[in-house]
Amino acid sequence: MMLPGTDTLLGPTPPESEYLEAYRQLRASLLSLHERVPFRSLMVTSAKASEGKSTVVLNLGTAMAFASRPTVCVDLDLHHPQLHELVGVPMVPGFTDVLAGEATLAQCLQTTGIDGLSFIAAGSRAGGRADILAASSPLGVLTELGEQCDFIIIDSTPVLDFAVSLELARVVEMCVVVARARRPAAPVVQAVEMLENAGATVAGIIVNDVLPEDRIGASAGYYEEGLP
Ligand SMILES: Nc1ncnc2c1ncn2[C@@H]1O[C@H](COP(=O)(O)OP(=O)(O)OP(=O)(O)O)[C@@H](O)[C@H]1O
Ligand SMILES: [Mg+2]
Repeated sequence: MMLPGTDTLLGPTPPESEYLEAYRQLRASLLSLHERVPFRSLMVTSAKASEGKSTVVLNLGTAMAFASRPTVCVDLDLHHPQLHELVGVPMVPGFTDVLAGEATLAQCLQTTGIDGLSFIAAGSRAGGRADILAASSPLGVLTELGEQCDFIIIDSTPVLDFAVSLELARVVEMCVVVARARRPAAPVVQAVEMLENAGATVAGIIVNDVLPEDRIGASAGYYEEGLP
């Protein structure tokens, strides 16, 4: 149960860097939004695979924990559950087992080696068994989990490839879309539209893997949509 620091994961003791500061900027944007529009559950999704969802989930969770905001990261990328490998814990038991009534939240909550950051793995109903989210609403479990933390940050599946993030759209209170720099914009726009049509509130787009030469002004890669 030790989330290590790597080139892309902040881990418990990241050195000062522009990369760390970009996550502080993202945290500041979301905390500012949170003042205006309170939310506890935040889904991180993307249009296609490999945009950086899992990286953003763990690093944003880490940044929240550094700011004394107790946070739980939950892996609901049921078609490519991977967070448990990064955290170094088994995939089962996990969130889908709680949904199925076969485990309790207490049995699934894992430490990460970072104070204030906990983790819940996907559980046994992943891959071909991913119908569980449509069968049982996660709202009750998320509400119960929300009593134990400030933020629940949820990893999800790519919007254009799988149903999971659309199934979660109405259940989570806030949503961000990760888009890798230097990839086409049209799928991202389509993903935002699909999420909003499914009932999500999309806070904005997180542009990941921005190179220094891509930057306009400061290093923030976060664009807020028209929220209050
Ligand atoms: N800012 C970054 N700079 C360099 N590499 C990155 C960055 N963000 C993510 N990566 C790397 O890109 C790969 C994909 O990232 P990640 O696993 O976070 O994406 P994902 O959207 O969760 O992918 P999947 O859809 O497969 O679950 C990983 O190897 C990760 O380490
Ligand atoms: Mg992932």
